[in-house]
Amino acid sequence: MKMKHFTCLLSLFFILITSFSLANSTIVSHDERAITINGQRRILISGSIHYPRSTAEMWPDLINKAKDGGLDAIESYVFWNAHEPKRREYDFSGNLDVVRFIKTIQSAGLYSVLRIGPYVCAEWNYGGFPVWLHNMPNMKFRTINPSFMNEMQNFTTKIVEMMKEEKLFASQGGPIILAQIENEYGNVISSYGAEGKAYIDWCANMANSLDIGVPWLMCQQPNAPKPMLETCNGFYCDQYEPTNPSSPKMWTENWTGWFKNWGGKHPYRTAEDLAYSVARFFQTGGTFQNYYMYHGGTNFGRVAGGPYITTSYDYHAPLDEYGNLNQPKWGHLKQLHAVLKSIEKPLTYGNISRIDLGNSIKATIYTTKEGSSCFIGNVNATADALVNFHGKDYHVPAWSVSILPDCDKEAYNTAKVNTQTSIMTDDSSKPHMLQWTWRPESAQKTILKGRGNLIAKGLVDQKDVTNDASDYLWYMTRVHLDKKDPLWSRNMSLRVHSNAHVLHAYVNGKYIGHQFVKDGKFDYRFERKVNLVHGTNHISLLSVSVGLQNYGPFFANGPTGINGPVSLVGYKGEETIEKDLSKHQWDYKIGMNGYNHKLFSTNSIGRHHVKWANEKLATGRMLTWYKAHFKAPLGKDPVIVDFNGLGKGEAWINGQSIGRYWPSFNSSDDGCKDECDYRGEYGSDKCAFMCGKPTQRWYHVPRSFLNASGHNTITLFEEMGGNPSKVNFKTVVVGTVCARAHEHNKVELSCHDRAISAVKFASFGNPVGHCGSFAVGTCQGDKDAVKTLVEKCVGKLNCTIDVSSDTFGSSSDCGDSPKKLAVELEC
Ligand code: GAL
Repeated sequence: MKMKHFTCLLSLFFILITSFSLANSTIVSHDERAITINGQRRILISGSIHYPRSTAEMWPDLINKAKDGGLDAIESYVFWNAHEPKRREYDFSGNLDVVRFIKTIQSAGLYSVLRIGPYVCAEWNYGGFPVWLHNMPNMKFRTINPSFMNEMQNFTTKIVEMMKEEKLFASQGGPIILAQIENEYGNVISSYGAEGKAYIDWCANMANSLDIGVPWLMCQQPNAPKPMLETCNGFYCDQYEPTNPSSPKMWTENWTGWFKNWGGKHPYRTAEDLAYSVARFFQTGGTFQNYYMYHGGTNFGRVAGGPYITTSYDYHAPLDEYGNLNQPKWGHLKQLHAVLKSIEKPLTYGNISRIDLGNSIKATIYTTKEGSSCFIGNVNATADALVNFHGKDYHVPAWSVSILPDCDKEAYNTAKVNTQTSIMTDDSSKPHMLQWTWRPESAQKTILKGRGNLIAKGLVDQKDVTNDASDYLWYMTRVHLDKKDPLWSRNMSLRVHSNAHVLHAYVNGKYIGHQFVKDGKFDYRFERKVNLVHGTNHISLLSVSVGLQNYGPFFANGPTGINGPVSLVGYKGEETIEKDLSKHQWDYKIGMNGYNHKLFSTNSIGRHHVKWANEKLATGRMLTWYKAHFKAPLGKDPVIVDFNGLGKGEAWINGQSIGRYWPSFNSSDDGCKDECDYRGEYGSDKCAFMCGKPTQRWYHVPRSFLNASGHNTITLFEEMGGNPSKVNFKTVVVGTVCARAHEHNKVELSCHDRAISAVKFASFGNPVGHCGSFAVGTCQGDKDAVKTLVEKCVGKLNCTIDVSSDTFGSSSDCGDSPKKLAVELEC
């Protein structure tokens, strides 16, 4: 081949290569208005799904449901302590396979937002920090500290390199359009003085130097060092304006509900209020919005943060813990997203004008050459309004936003829900009694003799000793008392100042009681009467951690375990004699023997040497192991296990931990109301329900933990004492479907994967009551609504109903006021 031809071919080849890679890479940048993708300003709707809070088998379904719900992007943190459990030993297997997670997002055609942190908060154990990091010499977290910065940079670089290697950044043709460094440091920066500012500057430089080709975010970080983009987190971000005028108005965490603590109630944020917060944000110039969480999921194993974050991280998110649609939230938002998407151009390119209509009602008009789109927002928390806008009347309920894509016809109002409510239930099949075997934890030596495997003078902090390898740490000491000891009296007690999340105490082998925290104060005094003997007395204290703290300035240094003083107290009339044992020699033992022997494991090594009794099932017995075999429920519906009757502990299915359980911990009786008013500011307690009930009774068993046919094993470690005989497995399905749809809308009804079996109620007019108690109002259409619904829906997987007089007939009694359709269907 002639040289000239060869050069020509070569340049053609290069042109092809460059155009190929250019075509594949996405240019993500921003201007003051929006994130731009390949030069186009975009409104972006994103939602958080944390990959380790579900299983790899669940990801495609969750991501598809997110896509179907109108999301453009999936956001997740990266969880440092899960990935680097020991220094420089990494784990990216199973549900920690973050690359696979992002590729799953990519194959669904969605973008990804990667919040590396690596401090994440997230109600995750220790906010995502590995505990070995805390135990390194001269370590100070989240400030100018060479050891910390070195480790943070190492992990962040590792993640970035992994992503680059797989070409996952948008700049490389991948789905990641945004990344985040640090997390809400602005909330705590002032506690760190000048070093805080130096640290956040360092974070920005470090992140920037990694050259990822897409913008970096810093959430809750006013005046974020350039070019970091600052963003807002909260229940509402309409009032938020970035301090840097060239940052677009972005919202990284719109809290769709809230997390749950042991002893807390079930949080509930209405679909109306969540939609309102989103619509307000877009009305006031926002262009990027992320739901935290879109799917909350489950804290398997010991990943829950705390103290006291529950195993369920349902969050009342649009997808429930098990991955079912949480209706009407999911559907009501889906409709909102579609309307917002239909006006993307005016929202991102239009000129903005605002009209104050009085009484806290404001209209916003986005105008481009092609036309205008309007929002009418009623911020008033109680007063509905009939608004005259551009010469036309609009009914805008209190605390709602109407969207008029053409500034004329209302396409959506946040308070008018036209989506079904799905009431989930467990399947009604008869509970299958499990045949339990059991064995005690062999703690006798520890309790009676105080023998551990570590000795220290004085009391130690729990996480310093355990490296968080276990929830359990025994603190044991001996005290010699002779007859002449001034302490002796008829009334003696053991007094422990404790930060243990749960404390159990034994004196001379006898259990004297426990204490846990019901008021959020993890620094408390435990005192119980004791019987002491002349001679040697054994004191054995069991400190239990229930998730390490994950938030607050210097949270990582907070005390854990029994920090003392620990003393014996003798009461003699007016006089109190206290004998401080804190500086004694203490023996320590980390963990439980059964854990060391892997009693929860299903492989042969785990079963070795261990006898399980199958007679006289022990109940109400502390520190006890239970095991049973069971058949997995058939089908594909999510599986849950009912732990009613158990105390507190941890549970495993076929050797995999489904998390800590604590169904004996009830929430307080007060604070639940029958009615939930969506209007007015939401807070995590508002509309909470399940007062006076176990905080968490049902626990998620992912299908992938189960052997579909045949043999499955459940193992429990019961710490406090309980009765496993009522434990049983169920599936979660839609039981009832209700809707209260507005005239001139279409409502879609479905029992998800099952057929609709019956119509319990239907009326078009002004029906009253709620799902479960609907009743006909003073008027209704003259066609038989129940018959219509039966014809259109029963026996079908779904049906769409046109809510109009055409379908249901008219009624002169109803007058001109807008009519509604109320339906209740059985699945
Ligand atoms: C934020 C934090 C999140 C999560 C949330 C509450 O402050 O950034 O990680 O903890 O609060 O669920």
